[in-house]
Amino acid sequence: MTARAFDLVIRNAKVTTASDTYAADIGIVDGCIVQIGRQLGPGAREIDAAGRTVTPGGIDAHCHLDQPMAPPVRLADDFFTGTRSAACGGTTTVIPFAAQRKGGTLRAALDDYHRRAGGRACVDYAFHLIITDPTPSVLRDELPELIGQGYTSYKLYMTYDRLKLDDGQILDVLDVARQHGGMPMIHAENADCITWLTQKLEAAGKIAPRFHALSRPALVEREGAHRAIALSELLDVPVLLVHISGAEAVEQIRAARVRGLNIYAETCPQYLLLTALDLGIDDSYHGARCVCSPPPRDTDSQHAIWQGLADGLFTVVSSDHSPFNLEGPDGKTPGGQEVAFRHIPNGIPGIETRMPLLYSEGVLGGRISANKFVELTATGPARTYGLYPRKGTIAIGSDADLVIWDEREFTLANEHLHHAVDYTPFAGRTLRAWPAMTLLRGATVWDGRDFTGTAGGGAFLRRGLPSIAAIGLRTPARSAWLRDALPRVGAASPVSADPAPDLAPDRAQSPAPPPPAQPA
Ligand code: URP
Ligand code: ZN
Ligand code: ZN
Repeated sequence: MTARAFDLVIRNAKVTTASDTYAADIGIVDGCIVQIGRQLGPGAREIDAAGRTVTPGGIDAHCHLDQPMAPPVRLADDFFTGTRSAACGGTTTVIPFAAQRKGGTLRAALDDYHRRAGGRACVDYAFHLIITDPTPSVLRDELPELIGQGYTSYKLYMTYDRLKLDDGQILDVLDVARQHGGMPMIHAENADCITWLTQKLEAAGKIAPRFHALSRPALVEREGAHRAIALSELLDVPVLLVHISGAEAVEQIRAARVRGLNIYAETCPQYLLLTALDLGIDDSYHGARCVCSPPPRDTDSQHAIWQGLADGLFTVVSSDHSPFNLEGPDGKTPGGQEVAFRHIPNGIPGIETRMPLLYSEGVLGGRISANKFVELTATGPARTYGLYPRKGTIAIGSDADLVIWDEREFTLANEHLHHAVDYTPFAGRTLRAWPAMTLLRGATVWDGRDFTGTAGGGAFLRRGLPSIAAIGLRTPARSAWLRDALPRVGAASPVSADPAPDLAPDRAQSPAPPPPAQPA
């Protein structure tokens, strides 16, 4: 009798990576891919992919789960329901946000988030930091230490009163990135313009959901993107601009890239598929369901973003899953009231629909190749956020996070989804694909009909430095000037970028740190 060489073999796969498409079997041992080839030996378990496309499991690098909100508002998904939904839509790694409280430490935020995710997450996870209070000790000690410990990305807001930083504070954080690495992410919208426009609209009685889009026009994002790019250029550090929505911001990023600047960009399905009209054509409250920031734009912006996906301008497609219920007092009608647009919780759900929408509209719609789909949903996020090649590809040594795709048409309804939200803004759309199976480190977490994962089945991921930034397009003259002009800050022990999978220090699942001493 032949010995079983593998725990699992996926046979007859159309293996699809960011660079290649080929027919092969995939051999898996201990949750890792150990062999790829024709006619592999037997496995203890076998799955026949029957020639269907097999991609790496998706990485949703921008989602909000169980993030504390000002009462009565509350995110509908916690780490269990949010990651269950992710798994059923083909996503096997999520990177939500741990937000610093003003006056609090980054460590306290992380301890709180580890407590929320530990034992609950059904797919692997890491955290971006949100820095709201860059005090001297955060800049000198905490942030460098945490970068060294594998928290290698941090989001900075230019808008939202409770979160925003001024330009000097953003430069302070970018200066830490210059010395210690990591990927600063910027939410680029001009706060003062938004406040001014909101006041003018309210004074004119224009408070319906649709006026949310008018309070944050594309120009406001364009200005924020331009300023973020200038700040990045000043210190010669990479920056990733999150949730890009408008053609004008796309132009700014394109100009920066043409100049060789180290600027990266993310967009989301809502900016490819929704427009400002989805916020309403009259003053009905129905449009509250699509209120998010930045708001969806117009068809010209949709085209500019599709073009940017196809030609490499964008590195990452995320969901920006920010789930608020339509019904009840804790979501889009805070306290059970229909409110002026400025008080509508910002955000829409999308963690489960991100991959199927992009596969349907992008790949099967003929707008991007299947390889580009993999690059945007898995490989790009892995390289941007220090997870590659453990995550984000199909290669020997990588985790066996895999999606087998079923190409069939159906009309999407919220009842199909596994989040805890009472709607999807994409209901009624014809989808042309959905995962037939999702595997997390070789274990089936979605079998095409049911969620088959477990709470606590997801592992915390300690991350390396981003490889795209480590090999970024530095300008030698400017860098030399910076070395002379600016002293080093803090003392970091930078983690290496993209360790080879078999050398990765975090091959073993890193246990979550002990529970925090104090709830924040
Ligand atoms: O409206 C949105 N996008 N809410 C989530 C918060 C953010 O800025 O990403
Ligand atoms: Zn944002
Ligand atoms: Zn977000």
